[in-house]
Amino acid sequence: MCGIVGYIGYQDAKDSLLQGLEKLEYRGYDSAGIYVMDETATGHLFKEKGRIAALRNIVDSSIAANVGIGHTRWATHGVPSVENAHPHQSNSGRFTIVHNGVIENYKEVYAVYLSDVDLHSDTDTEIIVQLIAQFVEKEHFSTIDAFKKALSCLKGSYALALIDNEQPDVVFAAKNKSPLLVGKGDGFNVICSDAMAMIQETNQFVELMDGEVVTLTQEAIKIENAVGEVMERDAYTAEINLNDLDKGTYPYYMAKEMDEQPAVIRKIIQSYQNEAGNLEIDQAIVAKLTASDRIYIVACGTSYNAGWVGKQLLETLTHIPTEVHLASEFGHNMPLLTKKPFFIFLSQSGETADSRQVLVKVNDMNYPALTLTNVAGSTLSREAEFTLLLHAGPEIAVASTKAYTAQIAVLAILAEVVGKTVGLSEENNIIHDLGIVASSMESILSEKEQIEKLATDYLSTTRNAFYIGRGIDYYVAMEASLKLKEVSYVQTEGFAAGELKHGTIALIEEGTPVIAVITDERIAGHTRGNVQEVHARGAHTIVIVMEGLEQAGDQFILPKVNPLLSPLVSVVPTQLLAYYTSLHRGNDVDKPRNLAKSVTVE
Ligand code: F6R
Repeated sequence: MCGIVGYIGYQDAKDSLLQGLEKLEYRGYDSAGIYVMDETATGHLFKEKGRIAALRNIVDSSIAANVGIGHTRWATHGVPSVENAHPHQSNSGRFTIVHNGVIENYKEVYAVYLSDVDLHSDTDTEIIVQLIAQFVEKEHFSTIDAFKKALSCLKGSYALALIDNEQPDVVFAAKNKSPLLVGKGDGFNVICSDAMAMIQETNQFVELMDGEVVTLTQEAIKIENAVGEVMERDAYTAEINLNDLDKGTYPYYMAKEMDEQPAVIRKIIQSYQNEAGNLEIDQAIVAKLTASDRIYIVACGTSYNAGWVGKQLLETLTHIPTEVHLASEFGHNMPLLTKKPFFIFLSQSGETADSRQVLVKVNDMNYPALTLTNVAGSTLSREAEFTLLLHAGPEIAVASTKAYTAQIAVLAILAEVVGKTVGLSEENNIIHDLGIVASSMESILSEKEQIEKLATDYLSTTRNAFYIGRGIDYYVAMEASLKLKEVSYVQTEGFAAGELKHGTIALIEEGTPVIAVITDERIAGHTRGNVQEVHARGAHTIVIVMEGLEQAGDQFILPKVNPLLSPLVSVVPTQLLAYYTSLHRGNDVDKPRNLAKSVTVE
C-alpha cells in the first residue's frame, strides 16, 4: 500500500504534494511525510504520525520550494511512528527517498552491503537510500547509476522517488510491481501512485512499466527500461472529474457512495447498451468466454464476495461452470485447471497485488484474462487481455460499497450477453431488471432512519454478530459481515444458515445479533428454520426479506426484483447497518483502523 507523490516545477511543491497525499490517503494513513528543497537548495524534511492533516500542521508554510517528494504510509515493516514514516534519508543526509512496496530481501542487502551502516528505522525502505548513498559516496557512482545498481540488488515491489541534494533540479523515480505514473505539465512534471492524486495539476499521464527508471526535471521526462534503452511513450488523458473526488454535503464518502448506487447502475446500463438499445460486450471477450470450459474468478475481499454472486449469474445464464478463488491463495496453491480456462479478475482499484500476482501467472500460461475494474489504466486493466469498466466513479471510502454492486451489475450484463450468444437466457431482460434494481435501491436508501434504528438497537454495543443466508443470500451474508466488521470492529461472521448448527451455534448467547437475509423463495423456509434455532438460544434476530416472502415481525422488507439480482438490493440495508453502527461507535467510517483501500503488497 502507501502512496507516493513527487513534484518538480515552478509552483509551490509543498501544496501540490500535500494535496496529492490527501487524495492518496485511501492507500494508507498511519503516518506521512514530505521532503522539499527550497530556492537555496536546502532540504526540509517533515514527518508526522497519523493523517495528512497532522502533517499539514507541522509543515513550515513560509518555505518556498519547487521540488519535493511525499508519502502516506500503511505500515508493513515497523510500527507507525515518526522514525518509520517516509521520506527516509541516507546517513549523510544527501539522499532522500519515498517508497511504496515491499523489499523482500532487505535483510540480505543489509548484510551484504551495509553491515557497517547505522539504520534509524525498522523499515525495508531505509536500506534502499543507504545503499544508493554507499554506491555514490564510497564507490563513486553517479546518482543515476547508483540508483540503477541499487535497484538491481532488490527483490520485491517498489514505486520509488529519490532526491539528491546535489542535483536539486532532478527527481529520480522507478517502478516494479507497485503502481506509478508520471504526470506532464506545462513547466512542471509530477509523479504519483494514482492519477487522482495529481489531477489538480494535470490530466496528462504517462504509464510506467515494471523495471523502468525515470529522470524528471521541470521541462523533461526521461524513461529508461531495465536495460537502459530510452523509451518514448505518449501521455493519455485521465478522465477524472474533480467534483467526483469531493464528498459534497455528506459527512463521509461511504454515505455518498452508498447513495450513488442507483445512479451507478443506470450508468452501467447506459455504458453497455448499443444504439439499438441492446446490451453489447466486446465480441472478442464473448468469443473467448463461449469457447472456454470453465471460468475462474479471482479476487480479494469485497470483490471476492461479488465473485460468488458472479458465479451464480454466470452458471445460471451461460451454463459455464465457474469457480471463485481468493487471489492470495490461488497464486500459491493453484488448483488443477481445465483445458480451456477463462479468468476473470475482479478488482475495484485494479492494483491489488494479490490479484496481480495471479494475473502475471495466468498471462505466462497464455490463458485469456478479463479484468473488471473501476480504474481505467490500472495495472490489472493494462496487463489483462481484456477489461470491462465498472463506471462507478471514484470510490474513496475504504469500505467498498458501490464497486460491489457495480461488479455484480457488470457480471450480470456479461452473463446475459454470453448466455444469449449461446442460445440461453432468451427470456431474460437484464436491462429492464437492472432498471428496477436502481429504483428499488432508491427506495431502500430512503428508509435510512429505520435501518439506523436497527443499528442502534441491536449492533451499537454488541461484541459480535452473525449474518446468515442460503445460496445467493449466503454470498450477501459474506459481504454484509465483511462490511460490518471492517467499519464497526464488531466481530461478525457471514455464515451459510444451515451450517451454523454444525458447530458455530455454540457462540450464540443471550442477545447475540443474528441477521438473516432471505430472498430466495425455494429456501426461505429452511432459513426461517435456522432463524428459529438461534432465536430459541437467545439471539436477537433481524430478518431482511424480499417482498412476498415476509412474515409478521420481519424487520426489513426489500422491494421485489429479479431473484438473480437480489444481492444488489439485499446488500444495501447491510451496508447501511455497517455505516450506522460505525457512526454510533464513534469510528472514522471512511478510514477504519489498520486498513487501506488499495492493497499493493502481497
Ligand atoms: C472491503 C474492501 C476490500 C477490497 C479488497 C480488494 O470493503 O474494500 O476488501 O475489496 O482489498 O480490493 P480491489 O477490489 O481493489 O482489488
